[in-house]
Amino acid sequence: MSRASWCLACVECGASYPGLDVRYTCQCGGLLEVVHDLEALRARLSLATFDARLGSRAPADRSGVWRFRELVLPLETRELVTRLEGNTRLYDSPAIARYAGLDALLLKHEGENPTGSFKDRGMTAGVSIARRLGMTRVACASTGNTSASMASYAAAAGMRAYVLIPEGKIAYGKLAQALAYGAKTIQIEGDFDAAMKLVRQVCDAEGIYLLNSINPFRIEGQKALLFELLQDLGWEVPDWIVLPGGNLGNNTALWKGLSELHALGLIPRRPRLAVVQATGANPLYRAFVSGQDLVPVERPETVATAIRIGNPVSWKKSLRAVRESGGVVEEVTDQEILDAKAQVDAAGIGAEPASCATVAGARKLALRGVIRRSERVCGVLTGHLLKDPDVVVAYHRGELAGIAATFANRPVRSAATLEGVRGLLSE
Ligand code: F0G
Repeated sequence: MSRASWCLACVECGASYPGLDVRYTCQCGGLLEVVHDLEALRARLSLATFDARLGSRAPADRSGVWRFRELVLPLETRELVTRLEGNTRLYDSPAIARYAGLDALLLKHEGENPTGSFKDRGMTAGVSIARRLGMTRVACASTGNTSASMASYAAAAGMRAYVLIPEGKIAYGKLAQALAYGAKTIQIEGDFDAAMKLVRQVCDAEGIYLLNSINPFRIEGQKALLFELLQDLGWEVPDWIVLPGGNLGNNTALWKGLSELHALGLIPRRPRLAVVQATGANPLYRAFVSGQDLVPVERPETVATAIRIGNPVSWKKSLRAVRESGGVVEEVTDQEILDAKAQVDAAGIGAEPASCATVAGARKLALRGVIRRSERVCGVLTGHLLKDPDVVVAYHRGELAGIAATFANRPVRSAATLEGVRGLLSE
């Protein structure tokens, strides 16, 4: 195996390791990140390189991750395990902007990825590296989307996939995907945080390759969300990027991508980040407000099961990113998430609950005057509407405990007659 042109470095103590070492943390316990040779890239990389690939038919150019490969991982085309992920749409819905109290709110819909969530961007990178390392078995703990994505990419690469998920707290669409793509699906009697702790032990003990976002290569793929968003905008930098926060890999990745583009002189400035958490699973919000270290939330609870996480692995990197950006962490209630979701859905766009924390958060920040209505705001919708159909039906039927069905579109019944149906049309 040839040597990598990148290395791994500890974000805490700065210790450096070879780029293809199978390790996720430093000897000091800190997380690792991929360090590219930006000096070498500066001389030969321009935004035109990425734009020129938009017209290409080569898979490595058509993938919304590998189109940016110099800044992701400079792998050979034959090394890629890709489903042409990315290429998601950027929606401009006046109705949603009005709801949020903003002049405009652009929404990058990552639910339009091959397995229906933003996780595919990190997973194409993680599984490609797993294959390069000669791994035959991969594993992750997940609230559902990571496992769905890993199961799919592992199947494409002919690897055995093991997923650890919290029993009974995973949306049905996601569980269905893990099973369908052939992953060994292990339901843990505990929450995501317990599953996360356990999967690290299992991977260490068994030599299985760990594909949670603690894996630095996942973060590299995830950065492409940001590259593609800026490319959609003609490389104009918005004022804010708003996104939900769970295990906190995504906002960390976006900030790393922004910082690299900025260091290369390819963008003149970086936007502010707004990370939105659910009130019942808000450890980053608490740490941000108190100015203290993160204290895990013991029994996280939220209808947005994707972000039902009390002890996020990447919190230090994440908090540093938010602070450096001059950004904020906000919290929103389940009621606010579901009402925002009803708006996103009714605009014909649709997304899963955790995604809609983005819109609920943008609305709250606009109301509080943190985001000014004329600022240029981009939000990330992280997962597809059909990931969690149960919540949708229960909301519109008014069957969710403790939740008012503010924007309910109740299903109605009719006799199987013309009059019966006609009578309902004018209601
Ligand atoms: N939105 C969705 C739909 C998610 O699935 C996740 C995370 C997030 C937001 C939060 O992103 O963890 O990078 O802060 N889902 C993980 C999973 C935890 O297992 O699928 P984050």
